[in-house]
Amino acid sequence: MAKLTVRDLDVRGKRVFMRVDYNVPLEEKDGQMVITDATRIVETLPTLKLLIEKGAKLILAAHLGRPKGKRESSMSLRPVAAKLQELVGVPVQFVDDCIGEKVEKAASALKEGQILLLENVRYYNEEEANDPAFAEKLAKVADVYVNDAFGAAHRAHASTEGVARVVAKRGGKCAAGLLMERELKFLGDELENPARPFVVILGGAKVSDKIKVIDRLLEKANTILIGGAMAYTFKLAHGDKVGKSLVEPEHKQTALDAEAKAKKLGVNFQLPTDFVVATPVDTGKLNKKGKPVMDFTNIQTVKGNIPDDAEGFGAGEETAKHYAQIISEAKTILWNGPMGMFEDPRFAASTNIVARAVADATQKGAKSIIGGGDSVKALNKAKLGDKVTFMSTGGGASLEFLEGAVLPGVAALSDK
Ligand code: 3PG
Ligand code: MG
Repeated sequence: MAKLTVRDLDVRGKRVFMRVDYNVPLEEKDGQMVITDATRIVETLPTLKLLIEKGAKLILAAHLGRPKGKRESSMSLRPVAAKLQELVGVPVQFVDDCIGEKVEKAASALKEGQILLLENVRYYNEEEANDPAFAEKLAKVADVYVNDAFGAAHRAHASTEGVARVVAKRGGKCAAGLLMERELKFLGDELENPARPFVVILGGAKVSDKIKVIDRLLEKANTILIGGAMAYTFKLAHGDKVGKSLVEPEHKQTALDAEAKAKKLGVNFQLPTDFVVATPVDTGKLNKKGKPVMDFTNIQTVKGNIPDDAEGFGAGEETAKHYAQIISEAKTILWNGPMGMFEDPRFAASTNIVARAVADATQKGAKSIIGGGDSVKALNKAKLGDKVTFMSTGGGASLEFLEGAVLPGVAALSDK
């Protein structure tokens, strides 16, 4: 890797300010916030253990949710400190601020190999504004900067970008953590010269969200398999009826252009041939977020036109089995985005068939890389998370990186 990593650092006795992405899902249980998935914490353990071994004094900074500059108690990192302590096996201190005297005092009391976790950096608006004065305040306790927060590396915020600049200006080192290194390796280097056939599976709701990735991967892939709601825009562009399905009529041409580019480049570009559809009915109830709870009747699989009163909720089994066949011959697989609304078991079949196919191909020697977000959730739900080569901890960051964007959190690190 062209950037400095924690392996290259001499940190004995130094205060290492490390940005992590501990933006983990939490649920309230009996008045307490409980972490429902600790993957993002677990994935930083190798970096933490290496830095502990090297004798660093660790100061961890992170965000949780989007508190928009307010002290939202439901978005406190305190429960994360407890979880981290349990996982890392050394005491983790917590301080209920991320700048100021309290932080400086706690940091100066740290001994080699000890960890301090700071409170949510987004309790300050200056974090997302990448305010230079705020970055200076964060950097007060930093001799060295480490970024292991791949999931937040697409943000040019004070703790992901500003602090690095302050530390570098002082002549301090800014390095990638081991998780960051792994993410960049699998989502980046490994896809530069992939073993072939290279099969890309792309799902998700909107063509507009995925078009940059489609465009870039058309240059590299042998086959692209499309799923999810974005398939309806392609369908609409072909003159089919899509009923009440989610579509972006303004992106019909985008869809046709992608297909034309695929043809020109000789990429096998596949769209679903069957769809699971249902008639949505309003139950009159509202969910926790105040949104109407829908139910679905008349669930059926259709080809061609989708009936006027029906909405598509994912690819059908015929599509999924056809995709599974293609996946079984792949040597490199990149998967970003589910085939349909997998959260509901009535619409999960196609996503599960694809997940199983990716796991089986990996077993046979293919390299499988899962580009974060919902595809990771789907694999975990199918209990196949440990059957793939790599699962990204990023959502938006993975997508932007796969689009070919330079991530500000990476750009700010020192070159080797
Ligand atoms: C994520 O979960 O996507 C990252 O932690 C970044 O969070 P954000 O989208 O609120 O910036
Ligand atoms: Mg996000």
